[in-house]
Amino acid sequence: MAVRQQYGKPPDRLDQHVVDTETADVRASGQPPRDFPPYVGSRLRHPRRPPFPVRDPEAVELRGPVFGATDVGPLDHDLTAHHRGEPLGERITVSGRIVDRGGRPVAGQLAEIWQANAAGRYAHQLDRHRAPLDPHFTGFGRCLTDADGRYSFTTIKPGAYPWQNHENAWRPAHIHFSLFGTAFTQRLITQMYFPGDPLLTYDPIFLAVPDEAARSRLVAAYDPRLSVPDWSLGYRWDIVLDGPSATTFEEGER
Ligand SMILES: [Fe+2]
Repeated sequence: MAVRQQYGKPPDRLDQHVVDTETADVRASGQPPRDFPPYVGSRLRHPRRPPFPVRDPEAVELRGPVFGATDVGPLDHDLTAHHRGEPLGERITVSGRIVDRGGRPVAGQLAEIWQANAAGRYAHQLDRHRAPLDPHFTGFGRCLTDADGRYSFTTIKPGAYPWQNHENAWRPAHIHFSLFGTAFTQRLITQMYFPGDPLLTYDPIFLAVPDEAARSRLVAAYDPRLSVPDWSLGYRWDIVLDGPSATTFEEGER
C-alpha cells in the first residue's frame, strides 16, 4: 500500500501540475533520491539513521522474518481460492520468470504478492477508501519459482485507488511483489503495472523511475498464451534481478 490515510493529508495539497513539474526536475538529475518531492510520503519511507553494523549475520537471521509460519501451500498462489466463494472482478493469471543478469533462472525463490481488490480496496485496517471490501478476497499470495525460475499467480485484476499525495491523485492498478532472496536481508520489493493504464502518466511513484525503458519493464504484457480459456486473462511479467536490464526495486539513491 502506498502512503495514504495512515499518514493523513499532507499539509499542502499539491495539484497535478506541480507534481508534473517537480517530477521532471528530479528525473532530469538521474536516479530518484530517497526523498522524492512529488511523492510526498517518500520522506517517511526510508531509514533516517545510518545502517546498524551487523557483527553476527547468522544471529540476525535467527531472529529475522522467515518464509511464514507454514510451508508454501498448493493454493497459496491462487488468490481466488482462499475463501469459500469466488471474488468479484476480472480473473487474471500473472506469470513470468525471475532471472539474473545473464538470463539464468532463479529457482526456488519465494515470490509474494499483495494487492487491492477489484474495487481498489485493500483488506487492511488502515485502508479507508470508500470502496467495498470483498469477503472472498484477501489480496495476498505466494509461491516458489520452479527450476526455470517461473512463478505463476491466479488473482483478480486490482482496481485503481485514490491516495492523499496530491489533489485528485489515483494510483494506477498495480500488484506489489516481494522477492525474498536467500535471507531477509536480501529482500527486494517492487510493483507490477498493467499495460495501457492512463493513470501511469500521472503517478509520481511510477514516474520516480527516471529511465523510460526501466519504467516500461515495470509494466506487464498481455499474453494470450497465458490466458486460460473461459477462465482468466494472462499477463506476463519477467523480473531481472540485476544488470543493465534490471527491474527497478524500491531502493532509491542514498
Ligand atoms: Fe498499493
